[in-house]
Amino acid sequence: MNMPDDYAETRIPLRTSREWREHYEQNALSLLHIPWDAGADLNQAERLAIAASVQGFQAGESSEGRHLYRAAEKYAHASGDDEYLRAIRLFIKEEQRHARDLARFLELNHIPPLKTTFPDRIFRRLRRLVDSLEISIAVLLTAEIIAKVYYAALQSATNSTVLDALCRQILRDEEKHVEFQAEQLARLRVRRRAAAYAGTLGLQRLLLGGTCLVVWLYHRRVFHRGGFTFSQFWRACWLHFNDAFAHTSAASAHLRQAVAPLPGPVSPDAMTPGSSP
Ligand SMILES: [Fe+2]
Ligand SMILES: [Fe+2]
Repeated sequence: MNMPDDYAETRIPLRTSREWREHYEQNALSLLHIPWDAGADLNQAERLAIAASVQGFQAGESSEGRHLYRAAEKYAHASGDDEYLRAIRLFIKEEQRHARDLARFLELNHIPPLKTTFPDRIFRRLRRLVDSLEISIAVLLTAEIIAKVYYAALQSATNSTVLDALCRQILRDEEKHVEFQAEQLARLRVRRRAAAYAGTLGLQRLLLGGTCLVVWLYHRRVFHRGGFTFSQFWRACWLHFNDAFAHTSAASAHLRQAVAPLPGPVSPDAMTPGSSP
């Protein structure tokens, strides 16, 4: 994994669930202004190019919730980390805000929102495949990594001031979502042996590669309009992937330092930065 030498110095490797809960509370109070008054500001060519794609992403943003919350609830009960549940609740609220705002944008431009799409149904099934917080987050993280590239392309795909502000807000949120999920994966995977971890990462790579191909197939018009060729899209996704898992590695290393030696199961207290004896 490519991790910059100065990674540890430039990023906080691991925040507590309480810090994440506070982040989401603060974020909800400092949202960017979306100029809804501008009205339907897509021209016909832009509308044709992005409508189906935004409908698909809007459906995807609406789908995160109950299953993840149930898995988080089990984790919180087992670990005693109730703040994690509060943070997840606020995280889900942010995703629901994305869905709501995208639906409002679609309606503003007389494009009906869709309930679901084929790729969305696949993603929902993947997340529900096994009743596991780790798998839910791993699948979700893949979607968030791709979202970072997608919304950057969508932002450049039109001259809509509404869509520009909306994409800026979503990108700002997704940046933190990736870090939030990457840090939780570090907690969940901290005891995994090197070979098993490498296997897990291999599966995660397969998932990203496959998802990239499907997303390109369904949304390439937006990427083209946003200035991305397939290879630029592919490279951008892997850059974000490497960045996210460098963050997970840095968080894992921080956890191992904080709790070493580990005689038994890791307690949630021990998984809090700065709680080393
Ligand atoms: Fe989102
Ligand atoms: Fe997200």
